[in-house]
Amino acid sequence: MIATANVAFQHVPLPRAPLRPSKRCRNARHERIKAYLDEIRKTQQRTMNIDVAEGERLYHLVRELDAKRVLEIGTSNGYSTIWMAMGLEETGGKIISVEFDEGRHKLAVENFIKLGLDALADLRFADALKEVPRIDGPFDLVFIDAWKEDYAAYFDLVFPKVRSGGAIAAHDTTSYAKEMAAFLERVKSTPELKTEFLSLGPNGMSISFKK
Ligand SMILES: C[S@@+](CC[C@H](N)C(=O)[O-])C[C@H]1O[C@@H](n2cnc3c(N)ncnc32)[C@H](O)[C@@H]1O
Repeated sequence: MIATANVAFQHVPLPRAPLRPSKRCRNARHERIKAYLDEIRKTQQRTMNIDVAEGERLYHLVRELDAKRVLEIGTSNGYSTIWMAMGLEETGGKIISVEFDEGRHKLAVENFIKLGLDALADLRFADALKEVPRIDGPFDLVFIDAWKEDYAAYFDLVFPKVRSGGAIAAHDTTSYAKEMAAFLERVKSTPELKTEFLSLGPNGMSISFKK
């Protein structure tokens, strides 16, 4: 029994995933993980999670890029991280995700352990503005979903570390366009990037593919 600030959960942990599960086993497992994701959307409060359709897009993006190394800035309780980890189970990759709020970081660790996905994630309790410069690339995918005024700084830190053919995704490109203006200017004007703006949820998400 793990008590969180909002609700007490009683879970039988899902069995740890085999490294490369068969398709049938994977589909059943994904259904259980998605049910868990639905549950934490309802029960874990103040976590600012991306929308379901955005999570699905990130899952597919990981697979399309055949991503082996993913970096996330802004873990919260691990909702978006779990979507990407589902893809990484299939590609054989791993994710590093950074969060500086201790309560949300602990929730993310609990969620990954309950799902048996913890071997795929290096969840770091740290200030990303200090931690990201210490993390070596290359990355196949970087997902930025932290405080919006810092996105341009994150872009400058991660752009050189994303491999050619990789991508930088960012959340809240519509709802916080003003706060993210310097970041949006960079993704639109950098010649090595081709950027898509998605409206899968009300807040908007960009995916910038590096040529
Ligand atoms: C919008 S939430 C992330 C939601 C998460 N990606 C999801 O969909 O489940 C933003 C998170 O970024 C974290 N954050 C903001 N600035 C940060 C920083 N400098 N270092 C680490 N975490 C940071 C906040 O504490 C917050 O939990």
